[in-house]
This record gives sequence, structure tokens and C-alpha cells, in this order.
Amino acid sequence: MLVSAKEMLNKAKAGKYAVGQFNINNLEWTKAILLTAEELKSPVILGVSEGAGKYMCGYTTIVGMVNGMINELGITVPVALHLDHGSYEGAKKCIEAGFSSIMFDGSHYPIEENLAKTKELVGICEEKGLSLEAEVGAIGGEEDGVVGGGEVADPEECKMIADLGVTMLAAGIGNIHGKYPANWAGLNFEVLAKISEKTETMPLVLHGGTGIPADMIKKAISLGVSKINVNTECQLAFAAATREYVEAGKDLEGKGFDPRKLLAPGVEAIKATVKEKMELFGSVGKA
Ligand code: 13P
Repeated sequence: MLVSAKEMLNKAKAGKYAVGQFNINNLEWTKAILLTAEELKSPVILGVSEGAGKYMCGYTTIVGMVNGMINELGITVPVALHLDHGSYEGAKKCIEAGFSSIMFDGSHYPIEENLAKTKELVGICEEKGLSLEAEVGAIGGEEDGVVGGGEVADPEECKMIADLGVTMLAAGIGNIHGKYPANWAGLNFEVLAKISEKTETMPLVLHGGTGIPADMIKKAISLGVSKINVNTECQLAFAAATREYVEAGKDLEGKGFDPRKLLAPGVEAIKATVKEKMELFGSVGKA
């Protein structure tokens, strides 16, 4: 059964570890992540972007697939199915479709509008027992002419959104989605410490988990990050393993063209990536 992310994240915050959100793209992705979470007895959050939602034939298809897999694979660890960077309309659709967790990303709205829309969704999610992630708008993150740094949130605005009663809060601390450029300035721990101090027990979310060095991840967790999102790293691992299979000509040997064979190395690569992250985040054995 799907669960809200509230309990797993409050436990993570108190226990100083983080739960991974791994984005899903298809059946293979979902199966690889669920099996790894079960093997490692780790709670897990499956992230679905609006684009991936369209790709997988809509939110109800995804809810059906994930619920079916939890049942058929005998998954016992807590699993949250979470809309990633949802619009206001997308959030409503996912609530209706049976997601157990929602991110409403109002960070591009002026703060007043972000507050108003987030507040409305807090009410709806509370009533339905769903967890809600909000995102706070960003101020320019460029410093000393360093380009490629992500945006940095205003701790005062973080407190305003946290006080609405959201379950978790995403706030920019120089992190970005995708691969980090060679001249990336790194995470802004000074701002993270301020946000943490102001928002107290609120689980904080670190987006753009791909490519952040292990020591920075550990420091971020020690400063209050309890959910870390990883997407690109699984995609890169899947693509590299699939490339190796094809370049070795294995799809031309026997029934190597069978999708169950062709996609198998990619699935194993996703499993290895998820395992590595769960170990780094400290969520192993916490289910
Ligand atoms: P990456 O693709 O950089 O891992 O980021 C994932 C993410 O933050 C999804 O919201």
C-alpha cells in the first residue's frame, strides 16, 4: 500500500539520515527501485514529473502500475508515490488519481501567490492524508562571478511557507538538476544552516542529487536535509549499461534482442545506483 511521506521523513529528520526520491520513467525503473528498497529495507519515494506522467500514459496508469507492483512483488517497506515539481493543476490531478504525496512547485510565482496556492493545497492534502512538498522562490546565486551555481532561497520566505503546515520544504542552496558544471561553487551550507534554524523540525529537500559529492551530501543531511532527489544518475547508469550491451553486439546473439534481455543490464545498473545512494543517505534498514 502506498503511504504518505510524512512519517518516513519525520523519522529521517529526527534520525539524521535522508530518504531518497528516485524518479521513475517506466516499468523497469519502478521495479528496479522497489526491489532495491525492499532488499535494503529502506523507505523510498518514487518521483513522477509531469513529463514522465504524460510519457507513462497519465497518472492513473502510474497509480495502477505502482500499486500492482507493490502487491505482486510483496513490497513491505514504506513507498510514497510523489508528484515531482507539480503545477497547481497537476497537483489536483495527482490527488484525484491516487498519489500519496504531492510537490507543488510555486517557486516561479511571486511569494504571495506561492503562499496562497500552497496554503490551499495544504488543506486538501491534510484532509486526504497526503504529504505535501513546497518550494520556495529563489534569489540569484551568482557569487564572485562564479557561473553555474544554482539559486539560493531566502530563509525568511522558507519560514513563511513552512509555517503553512507543509510536510517538507525544497529550498535552493546552490543545487541544480542534471550534471554539475566543472566550475560549480558547491552547496551553500551557510544558507542551509539558516533555513534549518528557522524551519526547525521541517524535513528539508535537496533536489538535484546527481553528482553531489558524498561529503557534501553528508554535511547537508547533518544540517537538516531529510529527502534527496535523484533522477539523472539513474538515467546515465541505465544508458551506459545499455550502450555496453549493444556495443558488445549482444543484441545480435541468440535472442539478445528480446527486451527482457536487452533492458536487463540497464535495470541492474539502476539497482546498483539506488543501492549506492541509499547507503550514502543512511536509509538502509530504516523501513
Ligand atoms: P537530478 O536529475 O539532478 O538527480 O535531480 C533530480 C531532482 O531533483 C528531481 O526533482
